[in-house]
Amino acid sequence: MASRGGFSSKAGFIAAAAGSAVGLGNIWGFPYEVGAGGGAIFVLVYLFFCFVLCFPVMITEIAIGRKSGRNAVGAFNALGHKKWNFVGKIGVLSGILILSFYNVIAGWAFGYTFQLGSGNFAVADNFTAFTSNVFEVGTYGMLFMIATAFIVSKGISGGIEKAAKILLPTLIFMILGLVIYSLFLPNAMSGLKFYLLPDFSKFSFNVVFNAMGQAFFSLSLGMGALITYGSYVGKNDNIVSSAALITLADVGIAFIAGMMIFPFIGYISNGELTGVGGGPELIFVTLPQIFGSIGGVTGSILGASFFALLCFAALTSTVSLLEVPVSYLVDEYKLTRTKAAWLMAGIVYVIGIPSLVGNGYSEYFTEFIQYFNAETKTNFLSFVVNLANDSFLPLGGCLIVFFAAHIWKKENIDAEISIGAPNYEKSFVKKYLSIALPYLVPILLATIFIMTVLVTFFGVDF
Ligand code: TRP
Repeated sequence: MASRGGFSSKAGFIAAAAGSAVGLGNIWGFPYEVGAGGGAIFVLVYLFFCFVLCFPVMITEIAIGRKSGRNAVGAFNALGHKKWNFVGKIGVLSGILILSFYNVIAGWAFGYTFQLGSGNFAVADNFTAFTSNVFEVGTYGMLFMIATAFIVSKGISGGIEKAAKILLPTLIFMILGLVIYSLFLPNAMSGLKFYLLPDFSKFSFNVVFNAMGQAFFSLSLGMGALITYGSYVGKNDNIVSSAALITLADVGIAFIAGMMIFPFIGYISNGELTGVGGGPELIFVTLPQIFGSIGGVTGSILGASFFALLCFAALTSTVSLLEVPVSYLVDEYKLTRTKAAWLMAGIVYVIGIPSLVGNGYSEYFTEFIQYFNAETKTNFLSFVVNLANDSFLPLGGCLIVFFAAHIWKKENIDAEISIGAPNYEKSFVKKYLSIALPYLVPILLATIFIMTVLVTFFGVDF
């Protein structure tokens, strides 16, 4: 069999996995959830779950990947549990579904980069008009998918790792530049206060629930993306410290994204910041209006930089989403990487068309479905988000961890983690995993899954 390729070093793996984690979820989802969840209290709960819930899942996915040396489906076969490979299949399906809408949103960001860069701040005044222009927006999305497929077709060290090593530092550099700019705006501090000072009266069950889901999505867990990346990790690399660094990078970048966005919002709301609009509004309407109010060349540069950085963040994530099905096709169906990448990208683009046209252009996909007890209809894109992100990911994560702890067995996980991590045997992490993996994590994830299905699809009120 031809070599599957691999990361050139531990740093290369960390860059690629951090690139996968850092995406629209950090720059868009995180600040928006913070706004909806009452500010700093959400940040605290989020941090708690990143380490208590997500870190064990991340270690498990990487260990399964490295031990088996296979894609998300083949990994279960290689470990001798073919019956369980349906878990990997749910993962591949989730990857395809998530990429299908994620690419549409990335396409919008790509389009905005040009619009704001050329001084057209008016796009933000009628966002639906922008998204309804499906031929233009669809072209931006197509270009984005082509960039994704190109990187994946170049392989692990020559494509995915290389792209992450260029894009991630550029992204951090750009965010820091914008943070510095935004901190000097009038009323920046009121935004920061909202972001950083917890208001404990806002604490609710919903905050906890959303924080878990956000942490899980942001760290790219639950669909075998890290089983797949783990299969390209060197045997001497330390899985525990890699997972810790990936988590820190993801949390860190989400955190500084908030440091950039909240001062802007403090500025536009004249220091009377009480909440933040949800959905696409925050990024695609509010922020561009702020850049517009700054105006001139400065406004254009700020606006174009912001959306360019959003594109960079999205690109290393779309790459990881595409790699999951591509790696599956390469390992299991012996397609060449190039063929698999372009074929999959084409299929996913077509599956994304209803999400593309369901934002104003096609009434059918815009008013796609009405859940039980819901007052309004949900568009196709949000339906896929509810299905894949909100339901399949926690379900997949639950099954992966359950499988690892109870079927593959904890001794085998420990043995794999120990390779390259000499201190693991006596560490606190090992003790914690012996409670987290068999019990705590599967129970929490199963709860998220069941609750989401009941609350979202069946309108049950808790
Ligand atoms: N984590 C990315 C974000 O925050 C999205 C993402 C990329 C993802 N790959 C994934 C989510 C795999 C779940 C699984 O935008």
